[in-house]
Amino acid sequence: MSWAVDLVPKAIEKATERTKQAGSEIPFQVFDAMNLGKLHERFDTVLDAGLFHNLSDNSRIRYASSLGAALKPGGIFHMLCFSDSQPGFIGPRRISKNEIYQTFSQGWHIDTIRKTRYKAYYPIGGANAWIASIRKV
Ligand SMILES: C[S@@+](CC[C@H](N)C(=O)[O-])C[C@H]1O[C@@H](n2cnc3c(N)ncnc32)[C@H](O)[C@@H]1O
Repeated sequence: MSWAVDLVPKAIEKATERTKQAGSEIPFQVFDAMNLGKLHERFDTVLDAGLFHNLSDNSRIRYASSLGAALKPGGIFHMLCFSDSQPGFIGPRRISKNEIYQTFSQGWHIDTIRKTRYKAYYPIGGANAWIASIRKV
């Protein structure tokens, strides 16, 4: 079973509409990603496109714990976030590789962190980003 969550009802509304237009069906739910354990389901994979880089230092720790509660042992978390090679200040926080290693230092194994591009309205043309694959041990 797949789930897609966002804290903001409007975001869920839009995503549901777009998914239907694409001929796909995913159950979207307004839900706090800080409490994924409360979904009472364990997943093989969790995807994050653009949430982690909005979080404060303290929230990152809570988020890692929430992810740990939602993944099966050996399950994998894939994350797309702005990287510290992106110049300027527009948009979310810039994340260094080291910060990813620090956040997921206990109970996780970093499989890969690769350079990629994040498609975004701002900065125009998108941003330098990381795509990280992090395994729950
Ligand atoms: C940069 S947007 C990315 C949206 C979408 N994943 C995408 O790739 O287009 C970040 C999203 O994270 C959501 N968000 C922020 N805090 C959240 C939380 N605690 N739980 C769930 N979603 C959250 C915001 O409402 C926003 O829609």
